[in-house]
Amino acid sequence: MSIYLDNAATSFPKPEQVYLAIDHALRKIGVGPGRGGHKKGLEATRLVFETRETLAAFFGIGDSSRLVFTHSATEGLNLAVSGLLLPGDHVVSTTMEHNSLVRPLRRAMQGGVEVTWVDCDRQGFVDPHMVASAIRPQTRLIALSHCSNVTGTVQPVADIGLLARKAGVLFLVDAAQSAGVIPIDVRELNIDLLVVPGHKGLLGPQGTGILYVADDLELSPLMVGGTGGYSDTWRQPDAMPERYESGTLNTPGIAGLKAGVDFINGTGIDVIRERESLLSSYVVNGLRLIRGISLYGPENPRLHCGPVSFTVSGQDPAETGFLLDREYDICVRVGLHCAPDAHRTIGSHPAGTVRVSPGFFNTEKDIETFLDALRKIANAP
Ligand code: ALA
Repeated sequence: MSIYLDNAATSFPKPEQVYLAIDHALRKIGVGPGRGGHKKGLEATRLVFETRETLAAFFGIGDSSRLVFTHSATEGLNLAVSGLLLPGDHVVSTTMEHNSLVRPLRRAMQGGVEVTWVDCDRQGFVDPHMVASAIRPQTRLIALSHCSNVTGTVQPVADIGLLARKAGVLFLVDAAQSAGVIPIDVRELNIDLLVVPGHKGLLGPQGTGILYVADDLELSPLMVGGTGGYSDTWRQPDAMPERYESGTLNTPGIAGLKAGVDFINGTGIDVIRERESLLSSYVVNGLRLIRGISLYGPENPRLHCGPVSFTVSGQDPAETGFLLDREYDICVRVGLHCAPDAHRTIGSHPAGTVRVSPGFFNTEKDIETFLDALRKIANAP
């Protein structure tokens, strides 16, 4: 049986209740929400509403209608960036971002938006003072990831949220790697736009995600079209969340997402965080003892979330990953991880790193097997 250590890409396996919820939604409910007054339609509508409420409570969002379902975090980031920014606006971001934020921002730059990319240190941390110094009168937004998908570096989002609030600048957090593992409360962290994928730490299926849009903040929709209600007008409705949810929602996916969040609530996010920290520490401590391994990013588990990046001396990361897969049936992700700027920042560009990302369902034995395999691959004692 293969050992899956690529949870930063997508969590696997899912809790059993996630599979059951998707099966139930597809087999027993079947229909789309908000598209018909029949009993089955109402059941689907209720399921979507309950999921929205569950997620709102999970992220400290007072009004669940401000939470929009998307198909991915990437869609949420595109909607936030292209829906908010106008020519002349200035954005502060960092050099540790994933292409899902970098590319929408780069495209906005072609349309007259200016972006300052604040340098992070070799471990991937951004200094809040440098973020504050980058703010100008035209700054509309500070946008960054909570936790790096390359190094697991956890950014000081509480400090940055506070300084954004004081400066009157909007704050966007990409929680792709942290949501479901580190508690996030949009009010406490002064977050105006929160982007989350459903299929990573929230333990739902691929094809799901959310975007939280703060009260009074209006974005230009990415897509317009059918919204179930408000049919008798050519104009896209202003009402939330329909304004940003044209087209039939992914009801089976949303059912699975609710089951994933229910699992986290039932288990306790602190228990999940502890478990993942323990497994990551086990990886880091084991790798440290293998000759020829270079580690990237913070090693302190409190400053770290999920993924651990490393290279084997004299070996291309692609070769290490290939050997882990072919010889030992161990899944990791290698290369640039859709985050070339992050690799430039930590000094691993252009070859990238080998990234190992344990999840809640991994065992100590999985990590031991991985470390044994790596000792052999690195040809070390
Ligand atoms: N963004 C995901 C990763 O880092 C897919 O692997």
